[in-house]
Amino acid sequence: MDSDRTHALGELFAGHFGGLPPTLLSTAPGRVNLIGEHTDYNGLPVFPMALQRNVAYLIRPRTDGRVRLVNREARYGPREFELSDSIPHAPQGDWVNYVQAGAQMLCKRYSIKVGMDAAVHGDVPLAAGLSSSSATLVGALLGLLEVNQVAVPLPELQELAAEAERYVGVAGGGMDQAISLGGRAGHALRIDFNPVRMQSVAMPSEWRFVISNTLVEAEKSGAARDAYNARTRECKQALAEFLAHPQARALPSSYYGLVHGADVPSVLALAERALHGVLLQRFRHVVSEGARVSQAQHAMQRGDALAFGRLMNDSHESLRRDYEVSCPELDQLVGLARAHGALGARLTGAGLGGCSVALCQREQADTLVGALRREYYSSRPVPSIEPLLIAQASDGARVVRLQS
Ligand code: GLA
Repeated sequence: MDSDRTHALGELFAGHFGGLPPTLLSTAPGRVNLIGEHTDYNGLPVFPMALQRNVAYLIRPRTDGRVRLVNREARYGPREFELSDSIPHAPQGDWVNYVQAGAQMLCKRYSIKVGMDAAVHGDVPLAAGLSSSSATLVGALLGLLEVNQVAVPLPELQELAAEAERYVGVAGGGMDQAISLGGRAGHALRIDFNPVRMQSVAMPSEWRFVISNTLVEAEKSGAARDAYNARTRECKQALAEFLAHPQARALPSSYYGLVHGADVPSVLALAERALHGVLLQRFRHVVSEGARVSQAQHAMQRGDALAFGRLMNDSHESLRRDYEVSCPELDQLVGLARAHGALGARLTGAGLGGCSVALCQREQADTLVGALRREYYSSRPVPSIEPLLIAQASDGARVVRLQS
């Protein structure tokens, strides 16, 4: 984290809490998912990387069980709560729910008792599909573990963090927490679930992933929540109806099994007969996207940017047509990226707003960014956080002790 940001956070801490200086800095990155969208909660892998943007907590342990928070972003007012295994929810959409989610889980599992005072700042764009919410949860979780001197192995922590986030009422998968905790500089990570397993793939040095924010907010704990939860239900129902078809009897009974232990084209052909309407659409997306993750992983391993880009385009098309989580602004950004030198582009994260991600070669990146600035942003109000970002694959969350 750069020293200006740490300094500003230190000033905020001193101004708000006074007394002894903070002793810990906990940071947790946001992420961009490169491919494998809406697959995690269906037991299928994802392929994200952690970003250079994070949520940072400057922390001073307390002697009681209170947690007091002050956020550098004025619209997120100061918050306080008491550690307990049933922490009352703040109103839907309130940022403190993500901190409470982690805290409650740690109280339940490890009976933690020590609270903290923390000054918080995130530079991950909010409600943009870059996982600012999970970064908020993970940063607090690591901070609380540290002040309570509890050590938890990474895979267990990844699962625990995913489970903790359900406190906010989204039936989410485990991608965001897993990558925020497990990210690796210079690498994308293929993550499988149940249990969490990670394989890192070195980012080819010539590849650039350009992220652009539609500026349409898709608040995971707000309006987008119902659309997301509806899709998780539809996917379950689609699988059940598919498996009830007589010709599916001999097939594996999970999405993972259908993608990795059966012939995907035959599965999709059978789905056309076994399912209809929305359920067919959801099923077709999940199975085809699941298959694309392995193909994309191999394309990156062999440095085949054209193949990777094509898979991104196919992913977007499937998310748009079958999963119905795109929107006109995302389609516009994706179209502009492709028209200005991207080898592939797609929406990233849950969709219905948020960001697109485009792959291009290093020498094309400035042209692409310039074109997006001109053709998408020049006619829109200037956002508070830079809407264009060239992703740098970064390390996962950590806590450091500060020199006193
Ligand atoms: C959100 C969820 C993730 C994942 C994505 C869609 O970010 O938190 O678990 O389901 O949407 O891929």
